[in-house]
Amino acid sequence: MTAAVPGAPVLDAHEIHVRFPLARDWRGRAVRHAHALNGVSLQVRRGEAFGIVGESGCGKSTLAAVLMGLLKPSEGELRRLPRADGRPADVQIVFQDPQSSLDPRLPAWKVIIEPLVAAGRGSVDRAALRARAEVLARQVGLRPEQLGRYVHEFSGGQRQRIAIARALATEPDVIVLDEPTSALDISVQAQILNLLRELRRAHGLTYVLISHNVSVVRHLCDRVAVMYLGQVVEQGPAAQVLESPRHPYTRELLDAVPRLDRPWPEDELAPPAELPGNAVLPQGCFFRGRCPWATTGCDRPQVLLARPDAPLHAYRCHVAGTR
Ligand SMILES: Nc1ncnc2c1ncn2[C@@H]1O[C@H](COP(=O)(O)OP(=O)(O)OP(=O)(O)O)[C@@H](O)[C@H]1O
Ligand SMILES: [Mg+2]
Repeated sequence: MTAAVPGAPVLDAHEIHVRFPLARDWRGRAVRHAHALNGVSLQVRRGEAFGIVGESGCGKSTLAAVLMGLLKPSEGELRRLPRADGRPADVQIVFQDPQSSLDPRLPAWKVIIEPLVAAGRGSVDRAALRARAEVLARQVGLRPEQLGRYVHEFSGGQRQRIAIARALATEPDVIVLDEPTSALDISVQAQILNLLRELRRAHGLTYVLISHNVSVVRHLCDRVAVMYLGQVVEQGPAAQVLESPRHPYTRELLDAVPRLDRPWPEDELAPPAELPGNAVLPQGCFFRGRCPWATTGCDRPQVLLARPDAPLHAYRCHVAGTR
């Protein structure tokens, strides 16, 4: 179905910058910007689950919009591997809140096959479309006889199942999951994560999973990138990054996750320090003002350095390798 270049990335983001205008002068020229992405390079390979983790405002959803082709970078380039029909790789998305991302005026079965129809790839036959919606519904654990209902008539977890069925409809090359469980009840979160895992196993799907929740990424991802202030500060195989973090920010992020084997002490319940504003970017290392290791040399911009003993694991810190 897709052009076969073995091992070639489906999505290849190269030095992506995104700036949003915050204020304009009397001529309408932007004079202040939010620097949402500041040189993000990453590759998503077919069949992998790639996690993107970082705290609120670090640029995760902006990156999702770029990967989807919905937002043009201010600088840099996103390459999407061409499919056999010459069109760029098909990327679908599941948003955090299915209530607001799904059309309330359509019955569930029409919501599910909407992307197929929009892409001009659906059958024109209503019965065939309905049958396709029923197949997709079964795949995500919904009963086909429920599909005449409207989105508001489903529970939160069921709504997210509808959103997932919809993302599957075009048999996309990549599914971007932007905080797919953070609007759900804790009991339902695990069900949706397990569903995503099963679907990937059954259909060989490729995921980009975005979350501020490290546990979610740990549950589902093969590789992970950690973002801070619109940059990737650490990336590599999930086991290496999450079990042996090198960058001081990743360490802070992981320390903030309560674990069953290591309960959160009362006096550590304070939330992590605030992300600095992105209207004026720090000089040198972006994390410097908050870093316990800050020293000479941190006033220079940091590049990603490969870990000598595990070269797929890289971190943007000249001190980390010496600790
Ligand atoms: N349309 C916009 N106009 C101006 N600034 C924006 C716009 N969209 C995003 N930003 C800014 O870009 C930065 C990154 O936002 P983004 O939504 O990508 O963060 P995020 O990591 O997804 O956060 P969250 O975890 O809260 O969803 C933030 O500072 C945000 O305020
Ligand atoms: Mg977001």
